[in-house]
Amino acid sequence: MASSGKFGRIRPLTVMAQGDKKEGLDGKTGGQDIYFPLNGGDFSDAGAGSKSLRSELAALGVPAQVIRRAAICAFEAEINVIIHAVAGSLHYLIEGETLTITVTDMGPGIADIGLAMKEGYTTAPDWAREFGWGSGMGLPNIKKNADALVIDSVPGEGTTLEITINLASPSNARQE
Ligand SMILES: Nc1ncnc2c1ncn2[C@@H]1O[C@H](COP(=O)(O)OP(=O)(O)O)[C@@H](O)[C@H]1O
Ligand SMILES: [Mg+2]
Repeated sequence: MASSGKFGRIRPLTVMAQGDKKEGLDGKTGGQDIYFPLNGGDFSDAGAGSKSLRSELAALGVPAQVIRRAAICAFEAEINVIIHAVAGSLHYLIEGETLTITVTDMGPGIADIGLAMKEGYTTAPDWAREFGWGSGMGLPNIKKNADALVIDSVPGEGTTLEITINLASPSNARQE
């Protein structure tokens, strides 16, 4: 049965995190394991999650503008784990018209989230700056492009970002 959502072409697919496969609404097994490991300092992992997400959303017929916003959020969050943390992972979940991207890491955590959200604020190390990262625009960009962003961080333990995107609305409330 086709989705009654706003996308004519959307597949009745629910993509769950690793080890938690679920049947699609049509009774077929929907989804793959969408779980991408990330390692601190290792740029070879960068972009795997955001790239997969991009093609998954394109296959679902999601508007290009929404795909772009989702990919920016996923990529900036991946880069943050690689630059700032020891290890972590990205996974995403598409349920109907709601995309949730969860990026979690073991790392230093963020002591002052308000400060970290400020444009241009960065603690990126020199090695990351040498790669051109560390402009301090990642978190502000995620916030701007997401419909909702929840940051949960414990200093000395790690950080989790939960990014929500409504796949049916091309722009969000923050984009005038
Ligand atoms: N996953 C994370 N773990 C620890 N600190 C983080 C993480 N993500 C962001 N931060 C902190 O928030 C700051 C701002 O992040 P961001 O806006 O992405 O800029 P940048 O990554 O260029 O420094 C970072 O410099 C860092 O201090
Ligand atoms: Mg960043």
